[in-house]
Amino acid sequence: MKKITVIGAGNVGATCANVIAHKDLAREVVLLDIKEGVAEGKALDIWQTSSINNYNTRVTGVTNDYLKTKGSGVIVITSGIPRKPGMSRDDLIKTNASIVKEVTEKAVKYSPDAIIIVVSNPLDVMTYAAYQAANKSSNKVFGMAGTLDTGRYKAFLANALDVSPKDIHALLMGGHGDTMVPLPRYTSVNGIPIAELLGKGELDKIVERTKFGGGELVNLMGTSAWYAPGAAAAQLVEAIVDDQKRIFPVCACLKGEYGLKNIYLGVPVKVGSEGIEEIIELNLNKDEMKMLQESAASVKKVMKVLDDMKLF
Ligand code: LAC
Repeated sequence: MKKITVIGAGNVGATCANVIAHKDLAREVVLLDIKEGVAEGKALDIWQTSSINNYNTRVTGVTNDYLKTKGSGVIVITSGIPRKPGMSRDDLIKTNASIVKEVTEKAVKYSPDAIIIVVSNPLDVMTYAAYQAANKSSNKVFGMAGTLDTGRYKAFLANALDVSPKDIHALLMGGHGDTMVPLPRYTSVNGIPIAELLGKGELDKIVERTKFGGGELVNLMGTSAWYAPGAAAAQLVEAIVDDQKRIFPVCACLKGEYGLKNIYLGVPVKVGSEGIEEIIELNLNKDEMKMLQESAASVKKVMKVLDDMKLF
């Protein structure tokens, strides 16, 4: 791919650009921010690791100059303010919605064919905002959350079992919030069902810790996480760039799947060069479906806040 743009040179955006460069996913990655010099500085710092870490992807930073993003194949949107302790992701909507709208419109103007990955919070509703601002087919606008949340879930499981995180396969659905739905029935260690390796009590604790995984980090650091969110976004970029057809949970526009419509919510999909190439519908049991519906209801509430802002 010739060019990938990452909008927002905060911790998440800079980490994402850094991982994209290290994986050599494009000829160039452009990092854009509104704060004078920040994207330029971080891009230069990242680029100075190219000879040390052996990659070719040029890293360029720009201040609000969307012309430099022209012709991007993928645009990752990380703009907006992060959480502070005591805040929920939903508290960010008033500030972040207009930012996401504005940056999406500007970016799409110069890269009308780009696939857009949203990372800004509240994730599900910001993805819905970007979809409305982008005016593109919904398979080309989706949100990164499931790859992050399953990454956390897998990390906790790898520790509990003392096995390689590479061998943990797991799925998680729903919104990127406290109502997310980790799915032990779809969790295995290289095919061995997790329930055969870990007792219910311990598994339940890991599921709960996963749901509040972002908040745990906010409390520790005073701001939200960046290494895993940035890397999880880059993992989606890689699946697109290399047309990998990987199965990931992402925040996708549902049109009747799981009995849900007119909502962006985390579900398993196939990711390739066309963006979301298929939404996979699982045979969820009654309890799992109930949790998914509860998660959908909580996302819908925040969607209503966005609708009431009348930005679109
Ligand atoms: C988190 C933020 C980025 O979960 O939503 O860490």
